[in-house]
Amino acid sequence: MMSKNKGLAGVVAGQTAICAVTQTHELRYRGYAISDLCENASFEEVAYLLIHGALPNQKQLDEFIKRLITYQTLPNSLKIVLEQIPKTAHPMDVLRTACSMLGTLEMENSTNNGDIIAERLLAIFPSMLLYWYKRIDTQTGEARIGDHFLKLLHGKVDAKASHLFNISMILYAEHEFNVSTFTARAVASTLADFYSCITAAIGALGGPLHGGANEAAMKLIQTFKNPLDAEQGIKKMLTAKELIMGFGHRVYTESDPRSEIMKKQVALLAVSPEQKNLFSIAEMIEKIMWDEKHLFPNVDFYSALAYHFCDIPTKLFTPLFVISRVTGWSAHIIEQRSDNRIIRPAAEYIGPEPKAFIAIDKR
Ligand SMILES: CC(C)(COP(=O)(O)OP(=O)(O)OC[C@H]1O[C@@H](n2cnc3c(N)ncnc32)[C@H](O)[C@@H]1OP(=O)(O)O)[C@@H](O)C(=O)NCCC(=O)NCCS
Repeated sequence: MMSKNKGLAGVVAGQTAICAVTQTHELRYRGYAISDLCENASFEEVAYLLIHGALPNQKQLDEFIKRLITYQTLPNSLKIVLEQIPKTAHPMDVLRTACSMLGTLEMENSTNNGDIIAERLLAIFPSMLLYWYKRIDTQTGEARIGDHFLKLLHGKVDAKASHLFNISMILYAEHEFNVSTFTARAVASTLADFYSCITAAIGALGGPLHGGANEAAMKLIQTFKNPLDAEQGIKKMLTAKELIMGFGHRVYTESDPRSEIMKKQVALLAVSPEQKNLFSIAEMIEKIMWDEKHLFPNVDFYSALAYHFCDIPTKLFTPLFVISRVTGWSAHIIEQRSDNRIIRPAAEYIGPEPKAFIAIDKR
């Protein structure tokens, strides 16, 4: 019976060779532990691993990066569309719209296939976002996706931010059957085109229970003046049965391995008194959530603070998740297509008993 699995909790909905959460709560991409990847790999190597199935050798990586640099360019008609989107729009809606528009300009066909579109989207998402945000030339020539974003936003690439971005983008890249990835796979299962899958996934990611949690977590942390204020405020919210954004997870029960890596990075970035205060507030929220609810921070909680410390405007946090997760989405679309059967579950009917139709003048 369905009622036991509300939200499909615990339901194994398919197979994948892309990503695994192990029994000991370790996260692995195609067999490689994320801790190992964060320490030793660039995000571009991980992107290649996800999209193309194996880590690249130096020649493959160089060629991949060369392609990404060319793919940074925005078509003119896409620029015109971006110029029409109001400044008040949410950047996630901008990316969703721009992705859909690109699908009309560079349609998927036998030569422009999934692998090429995956790379194109990876390189062009920062350009789309920052062109809308700042109306600037989007060809930076930066070899790294994170640096491309930072250069467009700040006009320069700060070494600490570049390092942080590399790690956070690796951590955000993939997470098996999360909602946006499952959405992408469901759309792919109908044999829809690549852009439709990604556009749908962006829509799913934006919700505050999914990727939108990093933006919501930052706003929450900033509402408190100091750790004591946070302690009182969070307890009040919990009493009122409010959700604390950036906490809890469907798959993890004791901790999120990504959060542990991210927290270490945030601690290194917190140097000014204001940053140290925000970090102490975050740690207090973490303590209260554990003591009161046995809940732990997920990847979004400390990522939010990390981006804030790199001077990233809060509303660009979830789009950064898109820029990274497009690699995982793409891998899953390719995998779904390689052994497809339409994803169409059944529903348990709980509506009214059969009724006779009533003519409109008798209602
Ligand atoms: C991630 C999330 C959607 C998982 O949902 P889920 O698996 O359905 O979790 P449940 O709703 O079954 O949670 C179990 C209990 O913990 C509570 N809980 C879970 N996350 C909570 C949170 N962030 N704040 C307060 N309580 C929370 C639930 O209210 C529920 O309590 P109850 O048993 O008294 O009803 C959920 O934890 C959440 O909404 N978190 C906040 C949003 C977020 O950070 N999302 C990013 C995920 S990476």
